[in-house]
Amino acid sequence: MNKKTSNENPFIPEPARIIRKYNLSDDVKFFQVRFVDMEKALSIKYLPGQFMMISIAGTGEAPFSISSTPSRPGLLEFCIREVGEVTRALFRLKENSIIGVRGPYGNGFPLDKIKGHDLIIVVGGLGAAPLRSLLLYALDNRDDFGNIYFLYGAREPSEVLFREEFLEMRGRDDLECLLTVDEDTTGNWHCGIGKVTNLFENIKNIDAGNTYAAVCGPPVMYKFVIDKLVKLGIPKHQILMTLERRMKCGVGKCGHCVVGNTYTCIDGPVFSYWDVINMKGLV
Ligand SMILES: Cc1cc2nc3c(=O)[nH]c(=O)nc-3n(C[C@H](O)[C@H](O)[C@H](O)COP(=O)(O)OP(=O)(O)OC[C@H]3O[C@@H](n4cnc5c(N)ncnc54)[C@H](O)[C@@H]3O)c2cc1C
Ligand code: FES
Repeated sequence: MNKKTSNENPFIPEPARIIRKYNLSDDVKFFQVRFVDMEKALSIKYLPGQFMMISIAGTGEAPFSISSTPSRPGLLEFCIREVGEVTRALFRLKENSIIGVRGPYGNGFPLDKIKGHDLIIVVGGLGAAPLRSLLLYALDNRDDFGNIYFLYGAREPSEVLFREEFLEMRGRDDLECLLTVDEDTTGNWHCGIGKVTNLFENIKNIDAGNTYAAVCGPPVMYKFVIDKLVKLGIPKHQILMTLERRMKCGVGKCGHCVVGNTYTCIDGPVFSYWDVINMKGLV
């Protein structure tokens, strides 16, 4: 797939309209946007795991993972937590407002390599943003993948992003969709209680050499999840993770995201565990 934007000047965002916006949790909102230029909207190509730079005139710009799947063209979806100026301004905008969007950027998940293999997707909290894209892509192209496991952990039921969508997926017989929360005070949660690593008990009889894993979540989660994946026997170069670094330009020009010799905006944000152990400072 073409990973480059069609813009001649990579820094100029294109106008896009917020089509839908609603709460996914207390501090995370879903944004569905479409480029104003319909030709651009329908022709944009991206990979799950890539990100876009979203800007608000007079406020600033920040990178956000694409949560939608390239298998459903026309609309781009994002899942955004309010943390600072740009996200605060985005949260204030109403449906129909125009924002600036440029991209896609980053390497994304290597679908050409993952296809034909079993897939374990492990998500903590906001890690659902990039990995929902991979999950939806794999489900839309179901015959291209072997067994698919989706393991998702959040702190509490109200923080399970895309809750209805994921709960509904539990009914599918071509997906093992396993959800858990650290704590349930509602009494209405009928899935797992405990850390996302507990869900690994449900992974049985996998052919580890024929399996890819994709991980995204809070920094504290990685070590424990990777231990589990390594114990399952999944080769290190088949354990993929998306890592966030501070980014400004997104296109390898400003140096904000550099770790050693690596531009995480170009060579990442998706890295294999093999990359991580061989590149000091990446985590
Ligand atoms: C490749 C990539 C994909 C991302 N995808 C998403 C996504 O899908 N959804 C989402 O909500 N956020 C995502 N982020 C994070 C988002 O870009 C930042 O939170 C961004 O700074 C928000 O802008 P702001 O102006 O609202 O906050 P800022 O004013 O920039 O920052 C608010 C606070 O967050 C801290 N901060 C900012 N960026 C980072 C960072 N990269 N790592 C650690 N701390 C940071 C700042 O120090 C400050 O304390 C992604 C980041 C990257 C690099
Ligand atoms: S964000 Fe500017 S070089 Fe990577």
